[in-house]
Amino acid sequence: MVCVLLRAQPCRVCLVIALEWRAGSRRWNLLLDSLMFSGNKLWGGRFVGSTDPIMEKFNASIGYDRRLWDADIRGSKAYVKALQKAELVSKEEMELIIQGLDTIAAEWAAGAFEIKPSDEDIHTANERRLKELIGVASGKLHTGRSRNDQVVTDMRLWLRDAISTLKGDIMQLISTMVERAAVEIDVLFPGYTHMQRAQPIRWSHWILSYTVALSRDTERLEEIHKRVNVLPLGSGAIAGNPFSIDRELLRRELSFDDISINSMDATGQRDFVAEFLFWASLCLTHLSRMSEDLVLYSTKEFSFVSISDAYSTGSSLMPQKKNADSLELIRSKAGRVFGRCAGFLMTLKGLPSTYNKDLQEDKEAMFDCYDTVHAILQVATGVMSTLSINPKVMEGALSSDMLATDLAYYLVRKGVPFREAHSCSGKAVSLAESKNIPLNQLTMDDLHNTSPLFDSDVSAVWNYTNSVEQYNTPGGTSKSSVTAQVQQLREWLKAHKN
Ligand SMILES: *[C@@H]1O[C@H](CO)[C@@H](O)[C@H](O)[C@H]1NC(C)=O
Ligand SMILES: *[C@@H]1O[C@H](CO)[C@@H](O)[C@H](O)[C@H]1NC(C)=O
Repeated sequence: MVCVLLRAQPCRVCLVIALEWRAGSRRWNLLLDSLMFSGNKLWGGRFVGSTDPIMEKFNASIGYDRRLWDADIRGSKAYVKALQKAELVSKEEMELIIQGLDTIAAEWAAGAFEIKPSDEDIHTANERRLKELIGVASGKLHTGRSRNDQVVTDMRLWLRDAISTLKGDIMQLISTMVERAAVEIDVLFPGYTHMQRAQPIRWSHWILSYTVALSRDTERLEEIHKRVNVLPLGSGAIAGNPFSIDRELLRRELSFDDISINSMDATGQRDFVAEFLFWASLCLTHLSRMSEDLVLYSTKEFSFVSISDAYSTGSSLMPQKKNADSLELIRSKAGRVFGRCAGFLMTLKGLPSTYNKDLQEDKEAMFDCYDTVHAILQVATGVMSTLSINPKVMEGALSSDMLATDLAYYLVRKGVPFREAHSCSGKAVSLAESKNIPLNQLTMDDLHNTSPLFDSDVSAVWNYTNSVEQYNTPGGTSKSSVTAQVQQLREWLKAHKN
């Protein structure tokens, strides 16, 4: 590329002429560009000319904050009512503005709103359109309001709705899992710790272990809702509102629970976004771990579960394969959402007080996490309601060595201190290993070598149902305990429905 820079001093324009060799068309391409600079810009001096188009694009948020259109209009409709009460607009002007805003809302809803290149964000877009529709009266809408309190009001209105959608999604998933646990309560399979076979448990106990985590996620979401539902409007840019705006009226109009206490805090904080991003990260951490279990359980080696075709894909190369793509995507997107959370906290940590443009990063993070969690909760519900289990294989995977603890408990019930009982059982395990036979094939003589207290009733130990049934304290894996968990979660669902 050959580049020539011409400076025309009097008109503050720099002409960049570049010749570029286009290999494809085998010719030189002429590139012309002009840059407006003040005085000696290129060589120093403060930039006061019109903006660099790249900067404008860099700066603009309309590409994603358009999603706030409805919240922005709702906020403006409430605000003009407060302006009218403060006698800053007449009743007629208020009605005109509300009518105009309704027209704009209808345009957005119909997909007919036309974004102009000069619309850098949703607020300017709506205000520009309002001016086109109703003329000068539109200019009064922004009285005493700043984009700083406007945008954070929009964010809170939007997130409030998003939270209620997510709550519906997660309640659906919980309910699906609880009912599945109720139906499949008799299925036993190996429970693992450290990925090693630990003890026999009920399959439903496994399902409910994640369901309970999701119920905590739901409660956390309800908690966040309380802190999201605080009205910042009326805070202005930093100092507050100078026109005696009735913030209580705004609160009622927009159905907020509270009014922000401090205008600097209200416009400059995004704790509610950070909390939401953390919430999403933790919720997906739970679903990611659950997915990892299911991916493993669906392998040929385990064959405990089979993910339905609707949530798996075949391999493009190996015809025998069925990949649990839905679960792998859930697992991977947990990382994406956590990245959003970590990234946004990094954005916040060095900021001086009140509004800084850095806060614009809140939107993509919030939207992306919402979209991701919204999709995942629905996919997880689909997976959990359609996967099939293979009870024979699950129960067949139990082995008598998993009852070594039960063997120790047998002795404990005969009065042996647990430490000693544990050691006797350990000896039995090692004896079975040295004889290369399953633990339950040891003879009575073998067992007597480890403890004289073993009797013929030890045969009841080698029964997996008996094993799980002894865990009948609340939270355990016996049928009565798991039934109680199901019942408790059903009650919980009822209590948290609204
Ligand atoms: C950047 O966007 C803000 C609105 O968020 C606007 O006030 C400002 O003029 C824009 N600046 C540039 C350089 O485009
Ligand atoms: C295990 O014990 C239960 C009762 O707890 C009994 O119903 C079942 O038949 C036993 N299973 C075997 C294989 O003995």
